[in-house]
Amino acid sequence: MEMIFEDYFPQLANHWQVGESQLKLHWDELRSDRQFLSDLNSVVRDVPEFMGACFKHVRDLRNYRCLLYLFTRVIQPEIFVETGVLNGFSSAFILLAMRHNRKGILYSIDLPPDDEILEQGNRPVPQGKSAGWVIPDSLRSSHHLLLGRAQTILPDLLEKQSSIDAFLHDSDHSYSHMMFELGLSWDYLRPGGWLLCDNVEANSAFSDFERGVDGNGLIVASFNTPTRIWKHGLLQKPLRAVDCDDHAGAAASVKGKKTTAEGAPGRLEQAAIRSGLPGGTGAVPARGSMPRAGGRAKRGPLT
Ligand SMILES: C[S@@+](CC[C@H](N)C(=O)[O-])C[C@H]1O[C@@H](n2cnc3c(N)ncnc32)[C@H](O)[C@@H]1O
Repeated sequence: MEMIFEDYFPQLANHWQVGESQLKLHWDELRSDRQFLSDLNSVVRDVPEFMGACFKHVRDLRNYRCLLYLFTRVIQPEIFVETGVLNGFSSAFILLAMRHNRKGILYSIDLPPDDEILEQGNRPVPQGKSAGWVIPDSLRSSHHLLLGRAQTILPDLLEKQSSIDAFLHDSDHSYSHMMFELGLSWDYLRPGGWLLCDNVEANSAFSDFERGVDGNGLIVASFNTPTRIWKHGLLQKPLRAVDCDDHAGAAASVKGKKTTAEGAPGRLEQAAIRSGLPGGTGAVPARGSMPRAGGRAKRGPLT
């Protein structure tokens, strides 16, 4: 049975440090936005793979995307990076919130149409379409879609940004790839920025990462069927800036790596270390090697 989205409002309000009334306000504005639904319906109407779908409520597009809308309205990110676009529904919800915020740029990364990764079990986009095809034209001015493997596009993109406000992982849910994206984006998140991770039920990557940075995340379940529960992780980077000593400390916990600030691995090398990719040991930073997440948010139940 699908959860009642509003049931999570008290936990989300606590995690985001806002009043529940603010969440209700944003939820009301989203669910009463007939134009948004009509724009999406008109894009999918004649696409055979959507089999005449007609969305009557934003919930029909999953509570997960509604959660992304609320997150973007509350946190007001200037620079938001997501991996995993597929049809573009998550991007559309984020971009709609950015339009209401009157600020924000979304960078989205997905594979080009001819690069199917069948081993991940992802359904391809419909015939003749490419990633992000459902995003309404009216929302595209704040959007940058980058096609290619996250393994190559993400490091380049992050290096060009001095810092980002929010990162969403929803691409390849293998353990090593999740650790790669989480570790790399964490280094570029501004203090107080947010890491979002879809499908944390896929493996222990999110919880291992959270433990590694001594974080205090929240996990929200958006569907609960007899066969499948989808879970989404939210983790805030500590407000205190990570300084060179912290990086050196994190590096010191990794076997075989130099431990002085001068000799500490750089951002990309640290991400590789955490992810087990070439150049790394597969370890995550030891508990306590990164600063605490402020200790204010409560962990939600794994419902
Ligand atoms: C679950 S779908 C994303 C769904 C989307 N976030 C939404 O909610 O509407 C996962 C997407 O990740 C993309 N993907 C998988 N591995 C990737 C990689 N290594 N680099 C970039 N994109 C990848 C797939 O092509 C697929 O479109």
